[in-house]
This record gives sequence, C-alpha cells and structure tokens, in this order.
Amino acid sequence: MKMKELLLFLSCVLSVSADVLHEDIRIGGCSDSDGEDMLGLDGEEIAYADFNKQKEIYPQPPFIDPVTYMEGAYENAVANQQVCRGNLQNSRKGMKDFPLERDAPSGVMIYTRDEVEFGVQNTLICHVTGFYPAPVNVSWTKNGQKVTEGSSINVPYLNKDLTFTQISRLDFTPQPEHVYSCTVQHLAQTEPATKFYEVDSSGQSDPGVGPSAFCGVGLTVGLLGVAAGTFFLIKGNECS
Ligand SMILES: *[C@@H]1O[C@H](CO)[C@@H](O)[C@H](O)[C@H]1NC(C)=O
Repeated sequence: MKMKELLLFLSCVLSVSADVLHEDIRIGGCSDSDGEDMLGLDGEEIAYADFNKQKEIYPQPPFIDPVTYMEGAYENAVANQQVCRGNLQNSRKGMKDFPLERDAPSGVMIYTRDEVEFGVQNTLICHVTGFYPAPVNVSWTKNGQKVTEGSSINVPYLNKDLTFTQISRLDFTPQPEHVYSCTVQHLAQTEPATKFYEVDSSGQSDPGVGPSAFCGVGLTVGLLGVAAGTFFLIKGNECS
C-alpha cells in the first residue's frame, strides 16, 4: 500500500512539471428533438446543461475540488440551442437534407472501478467508444438476469475524431463466480455487442505488469537524479 501512495505522489509531481498546458472544450449540439451542451477540461466532463431540470449540472466526483463556471452558464446553453436549431434548419435547406453518418461502436470494454474484494461494494464500468451518432443504449445482466437497479449512464462525450464515448456504471458487490454482462445497442449495428465480466475466484484482480514497470522507471529516474546531484556536488566542491 505504501508503495502505491509513493508512486502516486511521484506521478503527480511529474505531470505538474512536464505538462502545464490545459485543454478546455465546449460542445454544443442539437437535433429536432434533443440538445446537448457540455463543458470539459483536459478530457474530463466538468458541466453540462440539463434541459429537463433547467439548470447546469456539475457531475464531478466528491474527491476533487469542485470547479464551477460563472453564473449564466445554463442561460448561455439555452441561447446556443436556439442558434443551433436555426443553423440546422438552414443547412437542411442548403444541402437539400443530408444523410446521417453512422458508425457502430469501435470499442466496448468492461472493467471494475476498484480492485475486487469479495463482499466489498464496487462498480462495474462499461466503456463504449467510437460511435456516431449518439447515444447508445446499455443494458446489464447478472448471472443471465436483467438488472436495472444501481445502473447509470453519462451524457455522450465527443471525441477528437468526432465520434462519441459513453460510460455506463453498475453498482455491484463481487461474489465468487458471479457473471455480469453489458450489452450495447446502437443504430449502426446489425446486432447488439455484449461483453462479459466474471468475478475472479481469487477475489483479487491481477495487478499485471503496470505497477512494477512504473516502479522500475521511477527507481531509474530517482537513481539518475542522485547520480546527477552527486556529480554537481563534487564539481561544486572542486571550484570552491
Ligand atoms: C434505445 O432505447 C430506446 C428506448 O427503449 C429505443 O426507443 C431505441 O430504439 C433504442 N436504441 C437502439 C439503438 O436500440
């Protein structure tokens, strides 16, 4: 455990010193029946306009310092929807209506949020990406039975290549040998895509090569730092 905390700390320092640029994004879209307006920072969703609840929603996890935008974010989104609908009508007329592009999801992944321990509440994540247009429908099963309780899905997130990503979550408590699945439906598919997750009988997920590789790189960088420090220390003493 201690080792993990140390590595986390190291990686934070690295990202602060090596990467000072941030990427801010605002995405607005509309159709005849629907609309979207979201604001993001560095690939994470910060806020979106909920046109049913008529307010700006900040879907941020509890462990970060909350980020909010200036007052009027929601009103701004509503105004932009009107502009968007107007543009949509004009483009339709200009292009004599356009055929809708269709891309089925290129990737569906299922994994757990936390390391698996029997009897300890966890969350299954179904990550769907590379589709157009949004949205996808995601349904869950547990041991072959449909489950709806404890599941949720985020609003579609636009990727750089103009396809979408959506993430569905299911709260679950791992028990030996239980099998879960998420099924993804999209209008460009000929049949739904299903991914299975089986709770490992050991109750521990394999940490794999990741942590040890990081540890190796961290140690190497650390040792190089010590060597460089020693070198300059000796050089400095020679001069004085
Ligand atoms: C998603 O679910 C809705 C509501 O059940 C349905 O109307 C729609 O056709 C579904 N979409 C796809 C692509 O299956």
